[in-house]
Amino acid sequence: MKSPAAEKIIVALDVATEKEALALMVLLSGEVGAFKIGLQSYTTTGPGLIRAAFLLGPVFLDLKLHDIPNTVAKAVESAGKLGVKMLTIHLSGGSEMIRAAVAARSNNMLLLGVTVLTSSTDKTLAEIGIAEKTSDHVLRLARLGVANGIDGLVASPHEARMLRDEFGDKIKIVTPGIRPAESDPGDQKRFATPREAIDAGADYLVIGRPVTGTVDPKAAVQRIVEELA
Ligand code: C5P
Repeated sequence: MKSPAAEKIIVALDVATEKEALALMVLLSGEVGAFKIGLQSYTTTGPGLIRAAFLLGPVFLDLKLHDIPNTVAKAVESAGKLGVKMLTIHLSGGSEMIRAAVAARSNNMLLLGVTVLTSSTDKTLAEIGIAEKTSDHVLRLARLGVANGIDGLVASPHEARMLRDEFGDKIKIVTPGIRPAESDPGDQKRFATPREAIDAGADYLVIGRPVTGTVDPKAAVQRIVEELA
């Protein structure tokens, strides 16, 4: 039986080969709540990895869909047929795209909206013509998502409290940008420790390199679980 703390951990399988992804899933299947298959793994291995992962733990397919409503709806439908439990769309696609995705999801799928990537800053938003502060833009997109039926939000741990206060228990909050105290931030700019993210209201933590980039991923997960317990 996995502990409630372990169930909150989603390991991001951002690795170069299917073999590496499978090895990580086999190693960690009893230790964490789900596996995130993102753009790198998906473009390398295709849906084969999702089918293989099915036996090893629930799959969070992080394709951050952003396209015309019909195309997004069809992709959401296909992901449902693959048995994916969580799937992401970019809320910046607008209300029509969000509603099409919500209508296409299967019953047991959590459709998660991405607000602003945790690698982005006010400067990044300014570059693409958005004058709003990052936190205001996160809230604007989150409200748009919730108003149009999204099940949960992906957001930086720094915005988790604001979102929990705004929406209460109506939505699930998933936070990437997690860095245990001693680890390297890499390209993440708005990060927090696992404990800080949970205290801020996160339901699930997406953790990649602080687990997968270590020599002993299982020990890294166990240290995080201990910190949370
Ligand atoms: O290695 P690291 O812990 O930084 O991995 C974070 C994962 O979460 C990556 O797969 C990244 O694509 C994803 N993610 C993110 N920021 C978001 C949404 C997803 O870092 N806003």
